[in-house]
Amino acid sequence: MRTILVANRKGGCGKTTVATTIVSALTARGQSIALADADRQKSSLKWIDLRPKVATPITKLNWTKDKALGDAPDNIDTVVIDGPGALSTAHAESLIKEVDEIVVPVLPSIFDMDSTDQSSTWIPRIVFWRRSRS
Ligand SMILES: Nc1ncnc2c1ncn2[C@@H]1O[C@H](COP(=O)(O)OP(=O)(O)OP(=O)(O)O)[C@@H](O)[C@H]1O
Ligand SMILES: [Mg+2]
Repeated sequence: MRTILVANRKGGCGKTTVATTIVSALTARGQSIALADADRQKSSLKWIDLRPKVATPITKLNWTKDKALGDAPDNIDTVVIDGPGALSTAHAESLIKEVDEIVVPVLPSIFDMDSTDQSSTWIPRIVFWRRSRS
């Protein structure tokens, strides 16, 4: 099972929009997809509820309380995770360590880019952790 985390500590940068768009695109390709919400706002879970009943089903996972990756059904090809607002918590750090890929949405604004630059100190740590495992 592939896991994709959409994360940035900057609020309103498009995490939920990007997560739901990736999920829609992968579902359209015929994959069995789950959308996990790790953000307490649970916007992604609300989005699933708002989808038309005739739309291809997307598995809904509430991972707001999990310490890292939560459970997902066996038949799922990819889990896309709408990341938590804060990246400094143990929950967020565990997710960052465990997932296969991380997508970081950044708005083309100097304030958003500056904020992301500061938080991007966790990106080299991911590479280091991954290398140290193999
Ligand atoms: N690529 C984009 N172009 C224009 N507007 C966008 C884009 N992506 C997101 N938005 C808009 O920006 C706003 C915030 O998007 P979104 O809710 O996806 O961000 P978020 O990072 O999930 O926010 P939060 O930190 O509250 O969880 C929404 O109004 C959304 O429609
Ligand atoms: Mg959101």
